[in-house]
Amino acid sequence: MKLNRRQFVILSAGLLAGCAMTKTGINGHSSDTRKRDIDAGPADAFREEGVYDRFRNQGFFLIRRHGRLLALSSSCTHRSCTLNTVPDRTFICPCHGSTFDAKGAVTKGPAQKNMPLLPVRIDSRGRVLVQVSGTG
Ligand code: FES
Repeated sequence: MKLNRRQFVILSAGLLAGCAMTKTGINGHSSDTRKRDIDAGPADAFREEGVYDRFRNQGFFLIRRHGRLLALSSSCTHRSCTLNTVPDRTFICPCHGSTFDAKGAVTKGPAQKNMPLLPVRIDSRGRVLVQVSGTG
């Protein structure tokens, strides 16, 4: 199949737009859903019950609750602002004021969805790995 110059330019523009859409969605938010593990460190470092918020800018809160280790996404389910912790172990969004309880359930909107739980595992070296989405 031979393309004339006009057809080539149109086809190239379409391909470039398609490539751009894989990184950025229509509303400007990232649509990259690649998953990757973040090494949070040795499991022994998280023995105390409570919320470890040092990973909030990496996409999650690590939580020790009733002896179990779990991770909640730190990205607000409204428009993806990074959530803050509150001393009572709840969460608040600095952008539009949504709040979430200690288990990540919405207690005040505009967010409608609960904070997602992220997969957590401990590898053979005893290190905590949390699976997050995106390029980070
Ligand atoms: Fe969190 Fe809007 S981005 S309430």
